[in-house]
Amino acid sequence: MKSTVAELLNSDKIGTEVHIKGWVRTFRSNRFVALNDGSTINNIQCVVDFENTDETLLKRIATGAAVDIKGKLVESQGKGQKVEIKVSSLEILGDSNPDEYPIQPKRHSLEFLRDNAHLRIRTNTFATVMRVRSALSFAVHQYFIENGFYNFHAPIITGSDAEGAGEMFQVSTLNQKDIPTTENGDIDFAQDFFGKETNLTVSGQLEAETYAMALGKVYTFGPTFRAENSNTTRHLAEFWMIEPEVAFNDLNDNMDLGEDFIKDVIKYVLVKCKDDITFLEQRLLQEEKSKPANQRSEMPLIEKLKFVSDNDFIRLSYTEAYEILRNCKPNKKKKFRFPINEWGVDLQSEHERYLVEKHFKCPVILFDYPANIKAFYMRENDEEINGNKTVAAMDILFPGIGEIVGGSQREERLDVLKEKIKALNIDEKELWWYLDTRKFGTAIHSGFGLGFERLVQFVTGMGNIRDVIPFPRTPQNAEF
Ligand code: 4AD
Ligand code: MG
Repeated sequence: MKSTVAELLNSDKIGTEVHIKGWVRTFRSNRFVALNDGSTINNIQCVVDFENTDETLLKRIATGAAVDIKGKLVESQGKGQKVEIKVSSLEILGDSNPDEYPIQPKRHSLEFLRDNAHLRIRTNTFATVMRVRSALSFAVHQYFIENGFYNFHAPIITGSDAEGAGEMFQVSTLNQKDIPTTENGDIDFAQDFFGKETNLTVSGQLEAETYAMALGKVYTFGPTFRAENSNTTRHLAEFWMIEPEVAFNDLNDNMDLGEDFIKDVIKYVLVKCKDDITFLEQRLLQEEKSKPANQRSEMPLIEKLKFVSDNDFIRLSYTEAYEILRNCKPNKKKKFRFPINEWGVDLQSEHERYLVEKHFKCPVILFDYPANIKAFYMRENDEEINGNKTVAAMDILFPGIGEIVGGSQREERLDVLKEKIKALNIDEKELWWYLDTRKFGTAIHSGFGLGFERLVQFVTGMGNIRDVIPFPRTPQNAEF
């Protein structure tokens, strides 16, 4: 029977015949094959009896080659591993020419590996990151299902702009070289596939709200798309978003849910991905050696993850955060690119990171934002701040990441919602179905969106969001 490397390394079946398939990581002294099959970060050592092995076969045992090995599981003679395989037969399934194979056993830069995203998964770093990503994804579903949520699949192609930010990819089958127009010169979308203008979704929220108003607690976990031209280490044009939406939850319930959810999934990977997280912690320490001391993380990865999952997040209003930022040293010394000098300004990532990394040194939840920097669907608060309207919004900010969650209590009052839609010049007719939820059996409800890649970044300690998604889509880049 075929085994995996993970099974054999944890097995006590010393002396039994075993059968394994995998890829050669290294082959040294014409004798020791380090074999990996993806089941664990660790390789199993397979010892070849080179004196009795054909010379041409030995030559073909190269890094990257796929092999089929049979032999006896024995206690290892050498250091570094408990068990190894004494090889009785080795068959090459697929050769890998060492003169051409790019992933040789040496240190490769993350940039080089990004250009070889189809092969980078064969390195320890990427195999580890993607195993953790997979575990986190499972933990997300497990958390919601165990807490009575229903998984809801939001449409990918929509006619609505949920965020009202207009950063959408159009979906069209019109002939780009001969676009039909109406009498007054506009594009004639009536002739397009859907008979109207459509785009890739920027968020499943609006549709999820309709489901929450019947199923109570729902969540989506799917791809979302933003055509924002942001070349940063935290933005992708295609990313995965987790969006719970809960009927009868107010803003406080929403913050409680967000905090509990994040802590729970982090705890899950700390238990289930010990080997991988330990490797990532070492990788990060190594990487940070080349950085100036003041740019290194204050805590090693595992300590940081435990700190976040064991301590309360700080909660404060936008207004309180504004006061802290207005009076802080970097603002007074004009070190911020965007100065904080007026209540109502949008917070940039430099401000968010100052709050979490310098001021509080822990995750922060900001709530009650100025209405005019937030989306139309957020619930207007009753009290005003110096005559300014605020909304029941909340953002969760994380060290090294900035905003990881954006959410709110939703405006459930039909008249108020209609007013806001009008004020923003959004066509009410486009949102007829959304407004129906407020016409029939409306109730308070809340939800949020968490960018899955930003969570994976935090948990793995990877600095660039392009390195935590298999095939990143960013401006000017859609290879693979
Ligand atoms: O704050 P955002 O835009 O909120 C929404 O889309 C709401 N409709 C969510 C909801 O209430 N259901 O995005 C939510 C999160 C951000 O906090 C961030 O983590 C992530 O999505 N995000 C991105 N991640 C990677 N690349 C991008 N371009 C992202 N834009 C947002
Ligand atoms: Mg946001």
